[in-house]
Amino acid sequence: MNYAIITGASKGLGEQIARRFLDEGICVVGISRSINKQLETYSESTKATYYSYSCDLSAVDELEDTCDQIKTLVFKKDTDKVYLINNAATVNPIDVSSNHRREAIEKHVNLNVTAPMFTTSRILHDAKKHHTTVFLANISSGAAERSTYGWSLYGATKAALNRYTETVALEVDELEQPHKVILFDPSIMDTSMQKDIRKMSKAQFKDIEKFKAYKEEAALRSPETVGNVLVDLLMDEETLINGHYYRIHDFV
Ligand SMILES: NC(=O)c1ccc[n+]([C@@H]2O[C@H](COP(=O)([O-])OP(=O)(O)OC[C@H]3O[C@@H](n4cnc5c(N)ncnc54)[C@H](OP(=O)(O)O)[C@@H]3O)[C@@H](O)[C@H]2O)c1
Repeated sequence: MNYAIITGASKGLGEQIARRFLDEGICVVGISRSINKQLETYSESTKATYYSYSCDLSAVDELEDTCDQIKTLVFKKDTDKVYLINNAATVNPIDVSSNHRREAIEKHVNLNVTAPMFTTSRILHDAKKHHTTVFLANISSGAAERSTYGWSLYGATKAALNRYTETVALEVDELEQPHKVILFDPSIMDTSMQKDIRKMSKAQFKDIEKFKAYKEEAALRSPETVGNVLVDLLMDEETLINGHYYRIHDFV
């Protein structure tokens, strides 16, 4: 049996990635604060099982405990492949940087950067011990590549994730490991993250009208379409390029 560990599987893109892996007969381990009961029910109609772990990924100690529990579930004698999708992230707080408070900065950085770094490190470490191949996707954003008024934290943390991922992929190549580590930019999708963005004031987020128009003009992709593209890529193991930055624009 093979396993896919997905952070933020309770809704949005993460939920759709989880459904698709279950359809492929791959057991899914979802990590988020809330539990999505529908995914548990859905898995009953597939050949795979959905396991959910309730964890606040911005609390590093909690994440470490969760990783300890997941390790025994996932790394078994008959596990050949483990997929890790670091998907959970927040765009909040959206505001000019002088309004950011310490706790909000800390939680944002922990969720968007520390958590994916920690899960990546743990899974690659455990995979080495158990001779398992890892297919790892870190979910990025176009915000990493340009400055957006009100998004200083989000742009910075996604940029950090990009450099981190590219460096891990370089190490995988140089160590001649079988793993593949990629970045994936899903671009704008119709999820609760976009709903949160549309609630902001113009003072907090100058581009607010543009984002309201994306919704009105149906320019947001469905997370299902995007999730399917990502899983197609990950399952096409021979073609998948370690270290590559994949963008949804190039597919749909
Ligand atoms: N939506 C877009 O337009 C867009 C554009 C570019 C990139 N992205 C990227 O795509 C990815 C998915 O975004 P999305 O739109 O699907 O987001 P979303 O709908 O807001 O879902 C976020 C997921 O992350 C989980 N999460 C949030 N905070 C958490 C925490 N502290 N601890 C544990 N889990 C947490 C949420 O679950 P709980 O609330 O249950 O914890 C949820 O499952 C993100 O990396 C995002 O940056 C999105």
